[in-house]
Amino acid sequence: MCGIFGYIGEKKDAGEIVIEGLKKLEYRGYDSWGVAMQTGMGMKLKKDIGKISGVSAKDVSDVSSLAIAHSRWATHGGVTKENAHPHLSQDGTIAVVHNGIIENYEELKKELMNKGHTFASQTDTEVIPHLMEEYRKEGMSLQDALRTACGRFEGRYAILAFDATDHTLVAARTGSPLIVGIGKGEYFIASDIPAFLEHTRNVHYLDDGEMVWTDGKKIHFSSIETGEEKQKRTINISWKAEDAEKGDFEHFMMKEIMDQKESINRAVHQDDKEILRVAKEIETCLGCILSACGTAGKVCMAADYFFSVVAHRHVNYVASSEFKIYHHFLKPESLLIVVSQSGETADVLEAMKVAKEAGSKVLAIVNVEGSSIYRAADFALLINAGPERAVASTKAATGQMAVLLLIAYAVAGKLNEGRTLLLETGAKINDMLNPRYIEHIKGIAQKIHTHENLYIIGKSWNYPMALESAIKIQEVSYVHAEGFAAGELKHGPIALIEEGTPCIALMGNDEMTADMLSNIMELKARGALIIGVSPERYDSFDFWIKVPDSGPAQPIVNIIPIQILAYFLAVLRGKDPDMPRNLAKSVTVK
Ligand code: M6R
Repeated sequence: MCGIFGYIGEKKDAGEIVIEGLKKLEYRGYDSWGVAMQTGMGMKLKKDIGKISGVSAKDVSDVSSLAIAHSRWATHGGVTKENAHPHLSQDGTIAVVHNGIIENYEELKKELMNKGHTFASQTDTEVIPHLMEEYRKEGMSLQDALRTACGRFEGRYAILAFDATDHTLVAARTGSPLIVGIGKGEYFIASDIPAFLEHTRNVHYLDDGEMVWTDGKKIHFSSIETGEEKQKRTINISWKAEDAEKGDFEHFMMKEIMDQKESINRAVHQDDKEILRVAKEIETCLGCILSACGTAGKVCMAADYFFSVVAHRHVNYVASSEFKIYHHFLKPESLLIVVSQSGETADVLEAMKVAKEAGSKVLAIVNVEGSSIYRAADFALLINAGPERAVASTKAATGQMAVLLLIAYAVAGKLNEGRTLLLETGAKINDMLNPRYIEHIKGIAQKIHTHENLYIIGKSWNYPMALESAIKIQEVSYVHAEGFAAGELKHGPIALIEEGTPCIALMGNDEMTADMLSNIMELKARGALIIGVSPERYDSFDFWIKVPDSGPAQPIVNIIPIQILAYFLAVLRGKDPDMPRNLAKSVTVK
């Protein structure tokens, strides 16, 4: 969580560069913002509560060629101007922005207060510049001061810092992402690539336990622990700047929903050799577990059904935040498959650590190439969805399902059949996402947007999609939505149904239809308003959202109209679907 971005180079508008770049990282946190610039007059600091998207970069910037900026997702200390980053040292010369949590900050704060330091915020972050200042007083260089300070920290962090009296940008990483962008006569350091994508596509990824410092001309990397300098490989990333823009769309969420016209095909575009290698690992391992968080977790639950139905193979899903207890079952022959859009989710990284400690292999299915999860895995597949900027996961979720379904077909020895099904599904989604279709769903949203409770049911692979539908609707519209396995209704949840309660039924053209129709009748008998998402229309539907008949790819198709419905529910209720309250795109804290 939190976006950080720093610039050092020949340009004189460093403040503008970091503010504009930070706007592209706002999905990481958006309750307050701040920027610190090195100017001819010394340190210049601006910060405030609210979203950085509303800030005019020109108005807050000064002539400067070194600046750092931050957009915050509060952990320690409320959303106030004082708690917004950057934070300064006691003498005001060192500025720091930070993503993560310094767990032992209280102890460090006491130590510093005993030395006469006073603190302006309630944050854990503020101890960083104060501690660096103490080391600077001992005559250390800025990079040594940061390195020594890092040696005192417990927890996870990505830190960017500079000293008003020294033209050097320093950064360190343990547990939270940091990427260096290499420009001509300039360097960028950010928590994610979109911040500097319009300037460069050449990057160095910082690994955990590494730090970097640069004067804008030369760059140095070293281990935080030993101080030993390191060489880093330059990687050219394939994302284009325009992929990370919303173009003519009002919100990224709708743009990314519409991207699904092509993103399924891109997800299927995998190297056969790699897919067959993964299939072999699944066939030969002793126990395969899928793990992820949130939407990616619901994708894994759908994959349980893919492996069962298509490949007759037992694969278990465990939420990454619950994974630790499973170490009893892990062996060197076990295989853990993790799924993540960002590739930075802390709980997923923790699950990987548990598996690695047991000697098990880890396969990662991610969207962000070079991300922490991508690099920590034994092998990785990319879903090729392109940047996903709205907090709500849409095209990443369907891309992840497409890759997992393709693997299930490969395990069944039917890779070509799987690819054909998915390419056909991609073409059907392309047809489905037309303006009339979108208007139809908007019309349904207009009829139900004032309801505060909404339920979704499904069977088989549509059950995890009912759970995912609930996440989508909850997170952007704040409507209380819950998903259920359709057959479970009569065991309790049906008591919630009242006259007019909207209930969505997710269906395919399959052996579940008869049971689903019975469950719908049970709901209808209690007054529910039924919205059927199905290839066929049934009399029990009050509204019908037609979806193409897609066989085992049905969950991929069925979730898309719900994404659209969630989007319109949010807009009609006056909420910003791209930046829902209390959330951040990349959850890098446990
Ligand atoms: O980046 P990840 O896929 O690892 O993120 C996992 C969840 O935080 C994420 O899927 C979250 O639930 C979605 N943003 C919800 O739409």
